[in-house]
This record gives sequence, C-alpha cells and structure tokens, in this order.
Amino acid sequence: MKRVFLETYGCQMNEADSELMAGVLERAGMSIASAPEDADAILINTCAVREHAEQRVLGRLGEFSRLKARRPGLVVGVAGCMAQHLRARLLDHASVLDLVVGPDGYRNLPELLRRAAHGPVAHTRLDRDETYGDLEPRRGSSVRAWVTVQRGCDKFCTYCVVPYTRGRERSLPLPDLVRQVERAVAQGFKEVVFLGQTVNSYTDGERDFADLLRATDRVEGLLRIRFTSPHPSDMSERVIGAISECEKVCPQVHLPLQSGSDPVLVAMRRTYTVGEYRNLVDRLRAAIPGLALTTDIIVGFPGEGEEDFQRTVEIMSEVRYDSAFLFKYSARPDTRAYRWGETATEEEKGRRLEHLIALQQAISGQLNDAWIGRVAEVLVEGPARRDPGQLFGKSLQFKSVVFAGDGTPPGALRNVRVVGATPHTLIAEPVGAARPEAGLVQIA
Ligand code: SAH
Ligand code: SF4
Ligand code: F3S
Repeated sequence: MKRVFLETYGCQMNEADSELMAGVLERAGMSIASAPEDADAILINTCAVREHAEQRVLGRLGEFSRLKARRPGLVVGVAGCMAQHLRARLLDHASVLDLVVGPDGYRNLPELLRRAAHGPVAHTRLDRDETYGDLEPRRGSSVRAWVTVQRGCDKFCTYCVVPYTRGRERSLPLPDLVRQVERAVAQGFKEVVFLGQTVNSYTDGERDFADLLRATDRVEGLLRIRFTSPHPSDMSERVIGAISECEKVCPQVHLPLQSGSDPVLVAMRRTYTVGEYRNLVDRLRAAIPGLALTTDIIVGFPGEGEEDFQRTVEIMSEVRYDSAFLFKYSARPDTRAYRWGETATEEEKGRRLEHLIALQQAISGQLNDAWIGRVAEVLVEGPARRDPGQLFGKSLQFKSVVFAGDGTPPGALRNVRVVGATPHTLIAEPVGAARPEAGLVQIA
C-alpha cells in the first residue's frame, strides 16, 4: 500500500480533514496520488448533509468498481460523514467497498487501509476526545490554511445530520491553535480560516472565540483571519468586539439564517427569532464597517407554508446578503424532522428555490455593481482559471476578483480598482505599484 488517491466532498471541514488524512498517510510512508488510476487505494471523504450528496458518492463508487474490475488489488474506502451516517451498512450496499471510516478514525488510517486489503473493515466509533490536535496536516498549496478549531456539534437542529455524523462538540486548546497558525505562517500561508460547525461557541476553559481571534491577530506575518460558520445564538458582544477590533480579522461573516419565519425557526430548533437575528445583523453592521454578510437558507422544511416562505423572501430583501447558499430541504434519516415527513412537494420546493435564487442573484449583482469605481485590496492566489493571463484573488469581503496579470505573486496583497462586476466576480485593474516583496517566500 503506497499511493492513495483522496477525493473530497462536503464542507471546508471535510477539506481540512482530507489535509489531515494526507498528513497521516505521508508520515506512514505513503504518498498522495494525483489520479485514481495511479493509486493502490482510493479514499472518498464524503458528506451526508443532503441526500443528493450521498447519491453522488454512490455514483462515484460505481465508477471505481469498474476500475477495480480491471485492478483487483485496488482498495476502495469511504471516509467522512456518509461513512459515519451509514456505517457498516455501506459495506453491504456497495460491494466495491473495502473500508468505511468515520470522522474520528483518521489517526489509524494507514493501519485500516492495510487491513482493508485483506477484507472489509469498518471503523465508525465516535470519540468524544479526538481532536487530532497533535497531528500536522499536509496543506494544499494555497495561500489559505484551514484550521479546525472545533469538531462535532451539540446544537441538534432538527433537520441536520451533522451532530450524528461528527459527534459531540469539542474544541482544541488555544495555545495549540496559536502554534498551528504560527507554523502555517512559517510555511508561507498568509490567511487562516478557523473552522467549526458553530465556530463562535469555541471554548478553552476561561477563554472563548474572542480570545482566539485576539491571540492569533498578534501572529506576525499573518495577513488575514476568517472563520466559518458562526451560529447566530453564539454571537456574543465579546466576539463582535474582537471581529471589529482585530486588524487581521476580515469584514466578512457567514451568518446562517435557515428561515425567515419564527414558527419554522422554532421547529428547526435554531434558538433565535427573526427579530433577534435582525438585531444581530444591525449590531454587526454598526461595529464592522464594510461588512459583507452571507447566509444559508433551506426551503420546504416540514410545515413551511407560503406565508413562512414569504417571510424568508422579506428578510433576504431586507438584509441584502452578498451571497447565499440556498438549499431544498432534504429529509435525513436519524434526525428529528425526518419523522415529520415532507409537507412541500418537490415542485413546490423547486419553485421556492428558484424564486430565492433569482432574488439573490439580483441582490448580489447590485452589491457587486456598487463596487465599480472603488479600490479593493486583493490577496492574490494565482492565475485565473478561465484566463491564465489574469490574476485571481479574494478581497477583504471574500469577493472573487480578477485583474490583468502584472506579476504580483501568490500571497501578495495588491490594490485594484474595480471596473466591472458580475453577481459572482469583480473585474478590476491594478492601481499603484506592485508590492512583490510581500509575496510568498515558499508554499508548503
Ligand atoms: N454548522 C453550520 C451548517 C453546516 S451544514 C451552521 O449551522 O451554520 C451547511 C448548511 O446545509 C446548513 O446551514 C443548512 O442550510 C444546510 N442543511 C443542513 N441540513 C440540511 C438538510 N437536511 N436539508 C437541506 N439543507 C440542509
Ligand atoms: Fe447542523 Fe445546526 Fe449543528 Fe449547524 S448548528 S451543524 S445546522 S445541527
Ligand atoms: Fe460537512 Fe457534510 Fe459532514 S457539510 S460536516 S461534510 S455532513
């Protein structure tokens, strides 16, 4: 067992977990293959948050079973949330599978892969104490380092499978996280993104998320700090104060709303009212100039009627998010809401979703148009995917920006003037002199 191909689905936490797995495998003398055809083992890191996510993986397993028919020694494994959700049942489900490993089993991955070469293996025990705090991830070559500060979730929103797939909430010790950030900066990373399902409920004894922001804001050489996803109910004044006062913390907050209707929020067990959420938005905007807000919204939750849906339309029009992730409700086995069945038809969910997509598209377009003529600070990531003559990076507000290549290296900041916009991208021109000396020395 030498070369492992890793394929990742789901949220940033899964991206970070794949980097963790890559680190574990490399320390065990294995290498990461760049294509499934070159690998001795294939490991898919999966998501279970919606049924569609699981179906995609089952489709992908079908493809790998054809590869395995040609290469009988190939080991195929499923890791992550879907593995935890379906556990050993997955082994019966997909005959191609040799290994099922949940989010708390990655420490033993090399051993599990070796065993799987001799017969099916399942490791899906959740571990209240596992944080992988001592393990060094193999970070992808980018200017951005994901740093998982908290694992699991204790909120049990009634639609959500995450508390079942990732187990109880636990935070990493603050000094370990500061060290991780310092190490990432020493390796050349310029931005860190703190990850946790309810990242602002982070706690280490007396210290909270505000303390984590303040402690890492002092790390020299680091340019930007972001975090995702905060829960509205955990957004304390201390945290708002830290976001506003810390120089490196970007003016950008992803604040999942889920629904604009109070009865639906109660049924979802989101623990805030629309009024409280609205008030929080006002406080954030007052404290953080130039704040960009994004959100997650679900349509067609059990019991959501036309009235409830209209409340969601109203608050979206009122808050005017920079962008929004919009989802059709998907009933997930194990969750509380699963027992309530579905009350909206697939067509109705589709209609509501289309309505919100059109609304958000218009708002995003208007907000991006408002950037035209203004100067934005871009942290350059590299050549633009569509046109390598252009450079790509993110603004402070996490907006994608492309501008004519002027030799600014990845990891450098560049001021640009926005000259055009689409709902998804700002188009810009460099202003003033380039500052190549601020670029990356080396990427890990
Ligand atoms: N911890 C994060 C969310 C993680 S899941 C938070 O609470 O903000 C990302 C998003 O997927 C959620 O915000 C929600 O909008 C969506 N989601 C979760 N479960 C879902 C389901 N059963 N059906 C549809 N969307 C869902
Ligand atoms: Fe899921 Fe709610 Fe936890 Fe987010 S806070 S992961 S939506 S249970
Ligand atoms: Fe993330 Fe999906 Fe798991 S959203 S936590 S990978 S269920």
